[in-house]
Amino acid sequence: MGLDYKLVLWNKYKKAYDKVIVFSMLLYVILFAVVTLVFNSQTSIETLVIRAFGSLAFIMLHIILVIGPLARLNSNFLPILYNRRHLGVSMFIAALIHGGFSMFQFHALGDVNPVYSVFTSNMDYGSVTNFPFQVLGFLALLILFVMASTSHDFFLSNLTSKVWKRLHMLVYFAYLLIIAHVFLGAFQQETSPFTIGILVIGFMIIASLHLITAFREGKIDKTRSLEEDGWLKVCDINEIEEDRAKICTVAKERVAIFKYDGKLSAINNVCKHQGGPLGEGKIIDGCITCPWHGYQYVPHNGQSPPPFTEKVATYALKLEANTVYINPVAFEEGTEVKPCNY
Ligand code: HEM
Ligand code: FES
Repeated sequence: MGLDYKLVLWNKYKKAYDKVIVFSMLLYVILFAVVTLVFNSQTSIETLVIRAFGSLAFIMLHIILVIGPLARLNSNFLPILYNRRHLGVSMFIAALIHGGFSMFQFHALGDVNPVYSVFTSNMDYGSVTNFPFQVLGFLALLILFVMASTSHDFFLSNLTSKVWKRLHMLVYFAYLLIIAHVFLGAFQQETSPFTIGILVIGFMIIASLHLITAFREGKIDKTRSLEEDGWLKVCDINEIEEDRAKICTVAKERVAIFKYDGKLSAINNVCKHQGGPLGEGKIIDGCITCPWHGYQYVPHNGQSPPPFTEKVATYALKLEANTVYINPVAFEEGTEVKPCNY
């Protein structure tokens, strides 16, 4: 966790995760080449590389986009989310090989600058069937480059997690560009039914998982109840599991109310690292532990234990006849609040 960015270090899980990524990528490319050559032995090596790495990057992008909602819906997916950034950088490398080979094959052999050639070799921007689809791939690759090169915790801590998160939301824009790249490219190239299948089924899966998660989160936001003397009613205490939290929304902020050792404490739900949902984590060694990468916070003051320096806002709670109430006015980040005993 973040005393500074160096503290997020390599460990054996990260190494194992990376090995799985590299092994799966190699396996995919080999299988793709074998299947393609079985069906069309005339395929050139350049075309093989371009298609194998293009479709690989496309599949990896889908995995990256579904991990978030899947991990929100089922905690068994959290280990995949843990190092999503490595998956992102690997996907960028696959996309770069695809884009690089395409640029070389279609734009580098003339006397025009290859980048200029991508934008100008086909100027039919008004057409659907002859649209210069490679421009869209190029723009998507630029976005993926910005994301991959700022993915390190150094940038996270220097840009602040809010700015970093906004920057990384551009992945959705890149996804739309790539969909258009593949879709419009299919009018001009023999795009395989396999890739078109990924496009259609992938879009349906990504869209429905995001909708289901949004619906669930919307329900959390609506869990507002009666206001009594400035306190908001949240839930019955028995609805909260031991060492776990209930997430609710107060004054437009998500708050996690944790139950532990006969006490209740409330802190802002958003982790200072990458905005992970603290209320979906649990208490480990007396600290609220973020489910994404394990940043920790002391429940009654929202501070990361020393030597770490992250702080989140805290809230006052009260308990009346087993009903938990929260005061919606947040305390400054890191403010000590006496836990509510039960
Ligand atoms: C400089 C950037 C890029 C260029 C110049 C480029 C160029 C091309 C070309 C020429 C094709 C047609 C290949 C063929 O069917 O023979 C293609 C297809 C494709 N591209 Fe790109 N592309 C770029 C970026 C990307 C990126 C960033 C992605 C995804 C992450 C991507 C994914 C795909 C996919 C999935 C196909 C269809 C492959 C198939 O036919 O099975 N491209 N691209
Ligand atoms: S530890 Fe990474 S988001 Fe919380």
